[in-house]
Formats: sequence, structure tokens, C-alpha cells
Amino acid sequence: MSEHAEDGAVAEVLRDVRDPALDAPLGELGMVGAVECGDGVARIELRLPDHDLPARDVLEARIRAALADCGVNDVEITTADMDDDAIHHVLDVIGHTPAGGGIRDSRFKTGQSHARVIAISSGKGGVGKSSITTNLAVALAADGAAVGVLDADVWGFSVPRMLGVDRPPTMIGVEDTGMIIPPLVHGVRVVSMGFFTDEDTPVMWRGPMLHKAMEQFLVDVHWGELDFLVIDMPPGTGDVSISMSQFLPTAEVVVVTTPQPAAGRVAQRAGKMAANVDQQLIGVVENMSWLEIPGGERRTVFGEGGGAELAADLEVPLLGQVPLDEELRVGADTGEPVVISHPEAPAAAAIRDIAARIRKIAPRKIRRPELRIKQT
Ligand SMILES: Nc1ncnc2c1ncn2[C@@H]1O[C@H](COP(=O)(O)OP(=O)(O)OP(=O)(O)O)[C@@H](O)[C@H]1O
Ligand SMILES: [Mg+2]
Repeated sequence: MSEHAEDGAVAEVLRDVRDPALDAPLGELGMVGAVECGDGVARIELRLPDHDLPARDVLEARIRAALADCGVNDVEITTADMDDDAIHHVLDVIGHTPAGGGIRDSRFKTGQSHARVIAISSGKGGVGKSSITTNLAVALAADGAAVGVLDADVWGFSVPRMLGVDRPPTMIGVEDTGMIIPPLVHGVRVVSMGFFTDEDTPVMWRGPMLHKAMEQFLVDVHWGELDFLVIDMPPGTGDVSISMSQFLPTAEVVVVTTPQPAAGRVAQRAGKMAANVDQQLIGVVENMSWLEIPGGERRTVFGEGGGAELAADLEVPLLGQVPLDEELRVGADTGEPVVISHPEAPAAAAIRDIAARIRKIAPRKIRRPELRIKQT
């Protein structure tokens, strides 16, 4: 093959490689720059809409793998910045809707996305919502699903730490229009208020600002084509829960509780709220169900039966019981969720089973948005 023909062949392969963060082929995005093959080396230039584009390492690995498949093993990758027109083109390709005026419904509401939205909620704090959210998301992703995690716990955000996200999202855009590209960790796209405030400053926002922030997280974030958007809800039934129910009327709600009957009564409120706003309640997860001590005996530290009782009250299935497990707590503190760091741990197995059950539930048909009639 002549060298020019080889340049063309390499460029062709590159065009089909998908950028993991933008979730589209490099060719379509206009990211393939100059390609030059010679002396057994393929020198390729990637044109980037932003230097901090997330998951560059994953992209480079995909490029090397695709080229290795056609016998090109020596690859040098350089990068160049895109000009404004090229960035506009990227925004078009990823389906950016400019802010300002008009309806700002997210693709999860309009039915453009086929993603199932799973809201993990609870009546009170500290029952393990964030632990379940993060492990469930990673378990679904490990099973091949495209998964996003939205940390909607604006005051008590802990998802970035639990998933070990060490970088903020990237904003790509020109002047005052653009899109937020979330970081990817453990195969999952993540957005959290924690990226936009510093950890030691409490968030003092009130209803309307929170509503706006949640809208931005859903509309201005490039989630890509997801199978699941898993949401870590704040405890209780406050402003954020109400906003979320308006933004995501097709969300399926999972209520997390501990085995204490009293905890179940509080959790019931979260469940009833889902029913009131017409979200679909799909089940209960009981967390901290027991502690297995050496010898195999199970100690029911927090009592027994709360999960099953709540599920019966709400007339939904008990999706699973997650035992107390030190590996789960350590995984949350180190950013390595237990389903990845210790897949054999009892809590990991329980959460994988819950993920499998959720996958099997037939989602309710996505409702089309109602006709909007202008009032004059
Ligand atoms: N099954 C479990 N085994 C051991 N530790 C657990 C388990 N579930 C949760 N934890 C630990 O309990 C603490 C609270 O869990 P988590 O943060 O997930 O709860 P939460 O409901 O999200 O709390 P908050 O309301 O504060 O957001 C964390 O330190 C977590 O690591
Ligand atoms: Mg939490």
C-alpha cells in the first residue's frame, strides 16, 4: 500500500472510533486531524473541543486498539485545539439546545432518551442511599449498560467521593453557549453539586435556585445515550424531590430503609410522595440488614423485618437485603465501590442481585409531554 493510501485507511478507522465522553464517532465530531504514516509509525492528530475533555485515556486506548486490529501497532497521538466553528459543530452533533427562552425539558422527559431513570430515595438520612446508588450504577455498567449518576443530594453530596471522581466536569462551548461534559469513572458518567461548590462550604440555596440547578444538571449536561440514569436523592421529601418529580415524571423510585420498623414508617413518606406525584414506585431495598460474624451467624444489629414490612405497606416488591459489610464502607471511603473492589463480598453480591432485578422490571411506557397551550 502506498503511504498516502495508508494515511487514508488509518483516518477511516479513526473516524469510526467513538469518543467516550462525547459518545459519538470521532469522524462525525470532526475530531480527526492530520494523519501521517511512515517508517512504520502512524502519527495522528486529534482535534479537541477542550483540552480537559474527560476520559482522554479511554479514547486513546480505543484508538490504539482499533488501529492494532488492522495491524498498526506504533501510534503517536498529538492534540490540537478546535476553532469556534468546529466547537459549534461538536455542540450540534451532541444535541446541544441553547439556553434562553423556550421549553427546557430534558431528553429524559421528552422521550428522546430511552434511559430508565431510577431515583434512590429514603425517608431519613444515613440509611445508605448513596452507597446503594453508586454500587448499583457501577454494577449496571459492569453488566454492559450505559449509566449516568446524578447526585441530587445538594446539601449532603457524597457521590464524587464514593466513586473516586478526582476531576470536575468540562465545559465545552463558545462564549455564553455550551455544554457540561461529565467525568467518567468506573464506566459511569457523574454529575454532582460537589463539583460546583467547595466541600467545606455549605450550600445555602433555596427552592428556586435548586430547581434551576437540577434543571441544568438534566438539560445542559451531555449525558449521551444512557440506559440508566441513577439519581441519589436527598433524604426526605423536600424541594429537590419536588423539582425532580416535575423534571422526571417517568422516574422509577426505589426506597431505601433499614430493618427497624420505625425507620420504615419514615421511609413510607418518601414512598407515598412518589405515588402522589405519580412517579412509579418499583421497590424497597433494605440496607444494613444483618452483620455476619465469623462462624456464619447473622446478627440483626438494627432489628428485623423493616424492609419487608415497608414493601408490603407500599405494595411493591422487596428488591433485596444488603448486609452490613465493612468492605462496602471502606469502598465508599476510598472511591472504589465494593462491587468492583470486592465483588465476592456479601454486600456486593446483594447489590448485583438488586441490579439484576431492576433490569428485569418492565419500565412503564414513557409518557409524551402534554401539549402546551399558550395562555393569553
Ligand atoms: N451495608 C453497609 N455496610 C456497611 N456500611 C454501610 C452500609 N451501608 C452504608 N454504610 C455506611 O454508612 C454510612 C452512611 O451511608 P450512605 O452515605 O450511603 O447513606 P445516605 O443515606 O446516603 O446518607 P445521607 O442521608 O447522609 O446522604 C456511610 O459511611 C456508608 O459507608
Ligand atoms: Mg447520601
